Amino acid sequence: MKTKVGIIGAGPAGLFLSKILHSQGIDNVVLESRSRHYVENRLRAGLLEHNTVELLKELGVGKNLINNGIPHHGVMLSFNGERVHIPFEELTGGRNITIYGQRFVVRDLIADLADKNNYPLYFEATAGHIEKIETDRPLIHYEYEGENHEIHCDYVVACDGYHGIGRQTLPGHIFNTHRVEYPFSWLGILAETPPSSEELIYAFHTRGFALLSYRSPEISRLYIQVDNDDHVDNWPDDKLWDELDTRLGTEGWTLNKGPIIQKGITPMRSYMIDHMQYGRLFMAGDAAHIVPPTGGKGLNLAVADVKLLGKAFAAHYHNNDDTLLKGYSTDALKRVWRTQHFSNFMTQQFHKRFQEDSFDYQLQKAQFDYIKKSVAMRTTIAENYVGLKEI
Ligand code: FAD
Ligand code: DHB
Repeated sequence: MKTKVGIIGAGPAGLFLSKILHSQGIDNVVLESRSRHYVENRLRAGLLEHNTVELLKELGVGKNLINNGIPHHGVMLSFNGERVHIPFEELTGGRNITIYGQRFVVRDLIADLADKNNYPLYFEATAGHIEKIETDRPLIHYEYEGENHEIHCDYVVACDGYHGIGRQTLPGHIFNTHRVEYPFSWLGILAETPPSSEELIYAFHTRGFALLSYRSPEISRLYIQVDNDDHVDNWPDDKLWDELDTRLGTEGWTLNKGPIIQKGITPMRSYMIDHMQYGRLFMAGDAAHIVPPTGGKGLNLAVADVKLLGKAFAAHYHNNDDTLLKGYSTDALKRVWRTQHFSNFMTQQFHKRFQEDSFDYQLQKAQFDYIKKSVAMRTTIAENYVGLKEI
């Protein structure tokens, strides 16, 4: 098989890139090792930044998002029960976020690419290795329906997530790796209960972090900070609701409780490589960087990468101009670093890390008091939370 751009992975990065390229008339093929059912039902992120929402609409894939996504005009930050509201639109000149599950974004893009347009998107097709990235005809070897195949392309984009083969193909000497493992994880639940607050709530409590979010007017999504070696079996439903009540609670507010339909633990890490291209191979999304989930940035950062790549391939194929392709890593890393910083800040600010009588705890509290007092600080949080327009 021959194509212009060979894409490995049908997560948000690969699917958005494929759709962007098709909208520019640039041939591409997507290989995905998992089944369509698996990819469409993987429970992950839910928070879409302003730019991500705009891009879905621009690409003509925003119908379900417009009908079912829930726009949010602010967020609530809490410290030991004391709450501050961050009004996005007032502080950012009209930008906001939308709650719409990652699996619905993925379903909408797959329906458009595979069902509506019949573009080449292969499920259960596993890329084994990538070759000749230093030449102008790189190729991807993959296995599909029990047989080995090759795709010859002009460029390969590895959108194959944290465990993919793209990063392993980059020569080790061209990048440095940065990694922080946090000493806590998130226990997340989906519950059949209406959300107890119109806004998301990020809460520091001396017992640990908690987050209240939701997926629909009937389904709540909630998280608590737990130890890395904790297990869902240690958290029967009643204990979990009591803990959420304590950590999220404030005077005169009640937490809606209901049947818990899903429970899972996610570790937290910051990870990145500091160079995202080599020869004809480009990296995008989780393949190149992971942020801790506080602030909901992972999916949005993946989309920001491929938006840049889309522009760069358009300049290459339509104007014979390689400036953007050559500058991709440098350009993408500006947003990656900004997002690493914000996700790290939100994580450090709202998780329990220190004893209450310590200097570090007092710094954490002083920073929250500053958020309460300062419009400048609230503006900083708002513009990072909704996502900077350009960077
Ligand atoms: P992925 O979504 O990982 O997609 C990569 C794809 O490549 C996968 O479908 C994989 O099967 C495929 N693949 C891998 N290797 C090969 C191969 N050799 N051949 C073919 N295909 C291959 N972010 C948030 O903002 N908020 C959250 O609450 C949140 N929760 C998360 C929970 C979990 C358990 C995880 C793992 C991530 C979570 N994230 C969250 C992060 C967010 O979901 C990711 O940042 C986002 O999925 C990145 O998209 P991606 O396309 O880069 O990678
Ligand atoms: C959600 C996840 C996040 O990490 C976050 O910061 C906000 C919302 C969610 O799953 O809804």
